[in-house]
Amino acid sequence: MKYSKYSAVIIGSGIAGLYSALKIEQHVNLPDGLLLVTKSQFGESNSKYAQGGMVGVLKENKKDSTSSHISDTIKAGAGLSDFNTVKFISENSDAVVKDLLKLGVEFDRDENNELTFTLEAAHSVNRVLHAGGDATGRVIEQTLCERVKENPNIEIYENYNAIELLVNSNSQCRGVIVFNETTQEYETIYSSVVILATGGVGQLYKYTTNPSGATGDGIALAYNAGAVLQDMEFVQFHPTALAFDGEENRFLISEAVRGEGAKLCDADGIEFMYKYDERKELAPRDIVTRAIFNEMLEKKLKNVYLNASCIDSAKLSKRFPNISKKCAENGIDISKDFIPVAPAAHYFMGGVKTNIKGETSVHGLYAIGETASTGLHGANRLASNSLLECVVCAYETAEYLKNSTLVTPKQIDADIKALIDKYSEEDEIPEDVNIKELKQELQNIMWDYVGIFRSEKSLRSGIEKLNELKMKFPRKNKCLSKEEYELKNMLTVALLIATSAYNRKESRGAHYRLDYPNTNEECVHSRLTKEEGELNFVK
Ligand code: FAD
Ligand code: SIN
Repeated sequence: MKYSKYSAVIIGSGIAGLYSALKIEQHVNLPDGLLLVTKSQFGESNSKYAQGGMVGVLKENKKDSTSSHISDTIKAGAGLSDFNTVKFISENSDAVVKDLLKLGVEFDRDENNELTFTLEAAHSVNRVLHAGGDATGRVIEQTLCERVKENPNIEIYENYNAIELLVNSNSQCRGVIVFNETTQEYETIYSSVVILATGGVGQLYKYTTNPSGATGDGIALAYNAGAVLQDMEFVQFHPTALAFDGEENRFLISEAVRGEGAKLCDADGIEFMYKYDERKELAPRDIVTRAIFNEMLEKKLKNVYLNASCIDSAKLSKRFPNISKKCAENGIDISKDFIPVAPAAHYFMGGVKTNIKGETSVHGLYAIGETASTGLHGANRLASNSLLECVVCAYETAEYLKNSTLVTPKQIDADIKALIDKYSEEDEIPEDVNIKELKQELQNIMWDYVGIFRSEKSLRSGIEKLNELKMKFPRKNKCLSKEEYELKNMLTVALLIATSAYNRKESRGAHYRLDYPNTNEECVHSRLTKEEGELNFVK
């Protein structure tokens, strides 16, 4: 097997991975170099599709303050947001936005060339920066991709899948094994620091806004390596995905459309949000999602509608050019037609437990962005806080690593050699596996049994069905393709989500139990780890 050595390896080329590569290259001494590994095309990520924007609590926005942002974030988090984390991220928002501007990110500005802020659900003031109208993620992602590509000190492995972390018996991470599907080659990358920036889990669900790569790989890798995971039951369902089938994911109709005044209604134009919350369309995401889902279940509908015709049509096309275009391609003129919408899995609040510096419970292993659970979002993420978290935590990880000497050991630890050897062994006899079918089965189970409304009965069935599905997947170690490795990870993460959801006997934020509709007074995180091959809940 091929072997290489780096001071630090970053896995993922979304906004968290790219920004951390730039900051680590800028601030950290890297005698053995820096590598960024990404499993598909460079820049392909959830980040690229972010629409609404990124929270910017800027000093020049006199209507806003960190205390107001902290309070909104904590309210949305339903008792599980960590105050110090929220404060840190909010207070560093001004600095990271200024840094992104310096790197060339062009946030939208008004006619006086001042940055413009929009409103999204559960924010008490307009504080969401956006770019390209409704293409915030694409603009940030493209700019950072360019900066990374032009930096000769950042090596890039494109189309390389990270498949196993190399952790020794002292719980020290020494690198990662990657797989190149095109050449069918494995490579051991030895490194003192591994940073997981592998994004979310949306593809675990039948309906999702996430593109095909969001399969929870980093979370499964960290779990298999013995890292502590946190709050795995908290999956955020976005209320308004465009309700058309036929693609790997559903196109998002940004919350910012509701922020600008659009209303939810049925096919006859009858509004319903007033029945569920006095903030109506701008109630927190979990409330709007459940309201829509309830309407759909009660009235046996496939979707409800978003009516944006009350917004000035010139403003609509300027502010939401991509949403207007996508809807037009489907025969919908959003300035006059209703937009069919339904909830879809969107964001994962759970993940690898970290502190603000990205440190996990495994020495040398870091996690940032959606794959991490820092305690910012608690049980329910406030819109546009994710991109902010990606950049602040990437920055802070680099700051922390500044003080370390990242010289990678020359010798491979003996216990790690055994992990590596598995991949040099002869292939098992290839057995035909219909990955597409198994993936669909998993997505259906998660949507039907571990979805927006949960109960003991549904979760027990979900776990049983996932275990049956696992038996149909024949690979234990080595797989034959990227999709097989992804499915293996999806099975791991799906079972962890379902089991955590089963264990949380209350409703809180995005986790709603029909059999336990109330929220406990005590706010408790769920934490789990793999011990001697078995899932174990820890304090
Ligand atoms: P990602 O951007 O998902 O990047 C993960 C990277 O890791 C990818 O490059 C992937 O290919 C790579 N990877 C994964 N597994 C492996 C592996 N095994 N080996 C190698 N590489 C791997 N948030 C906001 O704050 N504001 C918004 O307006 C907003 N809008 C959104 C709209 C949509 C449609 C979606 C899907 C999400 C939106 N979000 C928004 C959420 C936000 O975009 C994400 O949470 C955030 O971009 C995550 O960034 P990340 O860098 O952590 O992960
Ligand atoms: C959206 O634009 O509605 C998504 C915003 C987010 O997920 O933060």
